[in-house]
Amino acid sequence: MHTILVTGGCGFIGSNFIRYLLAESGFDGCVVNLDKLTYAGNPENLAGVEERFAGRYRFVKGDICDAALVRETLRRHRIDAICHFAAESHVDRSIVGPGAFIETNVQGTFTLLEAAREHAAALSLFHHVSTDEVYGSLGPEGYFTEETPYRPNSPYSASKAASDHLVRAYHHTYDLPVTVSNCSNNYGPYQFPEKLIPLMILNAAEGKPLPVYGQGRNVRDWLHVADHCRAVWAVMQRGRRGETYAVGGRCEMVNLDTVQLICDLLDEMLPGDGRGPRRRLIGFVKDRPGHDLRYAIDCRKIEAELGWRPLETFESGLRKTIRWYLDNREWVSRVQSGEYQRWIAQQYHQS
Ligand code: NAD
Ligand code: DAU
Repeated sequence: MHTILVTGGCGFIGSNFIRYLLAESGFDGCVVNLDKLTYAGNPENLAGVEERFAGRYRFVKGDICDAALVRETLRRHRIDAICHFAAESHVDRSIVGPGAFIETNVQGTFTLLEAAREHAAALSLFHHVSTDEVYGSLGPEGYFTEETPYRPNSPYSASKAASDHLVRAYHHTYDLPVTVSNCSNNYGPYQFPEKLIPLMILNAAEGKPLPVYGQGRNVRDWLHVADHCRAVWAVMQRGRRGETYAVGGRCEMVNLDTVQLICDLLDEMLPGDGRGPRRRLIGFVKDRPGHDLRYAIDCRKIEAELGWRPLETFESGLRKTIRWYLDNREWVSRVQSGEYQRWIAQQYHQS
């Protein structure tokens, strides 16, 4: 791999991945970042990268649904590998308005695959970044594996499932060299403050209410974004073509415990306002419609085949993440400067 097209590189995971690729992975080629810059895409997530890696990083502003642009980008930059992150990624938004999810996640992935097929002679890999949500919801027992049947429950996960199936079909039918990773919940720096962890950190730091959906009993398997980036790169380098790898943190947490831990760490790291522990800010709100109960990944395949394993523990990763959000208040106010309101769920409960 010499020149990798990263789609959605200005988002949370994509920007962490580009930094990792250029600075830490040992890769010495070039990265072209194709991003539409939606509300979730912020060029400042990559501040300093162009200067620090002069000649190895290019940004192309554009939509993965734009077939002519995608084709031209592959040709002009002599792309020989693709790592596809670009997506609409927030479940709550998919409940409020599913259209953009079908457009970007399904149509956009199809457009990329078609361009990749035309460009196949020059392409060694199409890596598709996906989610464990395609498998639906677990009860109290068991784990998702690469063999778990797809049962997506939200418009978001259904659109990601559709994109996974297209990627699989392009391998099966056209022999496109693909790999897929299905990962659990990520957290870490540069995550847009609509997702649970950054939203709770910022609201708790500012003394605002902490809206826990339902009873707060839902379980998520958390993985630090740096561990996810290493997993994606391991799959890209050494994963078998046509294979899927499930990626998770072996870190199941009940939502309420996660929010309480954030409160306790913040009480320790940021002196309070004298009104008592931040746990007092927690409130239970109407549940997310169709809310999946539990996600948990069995990641033995990627561990055994590729030697990957998560390095960050939840508490150490969470401490670093809280520190990052406290130290980057300017970033927070800039990315929130558009139409965004921190609590999307209010919208679907009002309508
Ligand atoms: P994000 O919402 O933070 O970023 C998405 C990026 O894609 C943004 O930069 C946005 O501008 C860009 N984008 C959106 N539509 C586009 C389009 N039509 N054309 C070009 N660019 C477009 O998302 P994220 O959390 O970084 O997730 C990245 C990928 O990883 C997604 O495919 C998501 O499904 C997957 N994933 C996320 C998680 C998680 O916990 N966040 C876990 C597993 C898998
Ligand atoms: O599992 C991987 C998926 O994880 C990714 O594919 C998605 O892109 C990513 O957004 C994430 O989906 P979730 O729906 O699990 O993440 P979210 O941060 O939105 O919510 C995590 C849990 O916290 C979920 O059970 C809902 C709950 N929640 C969320 C918010 C925003 C609350 O209780 N209150 C909130 O305000």
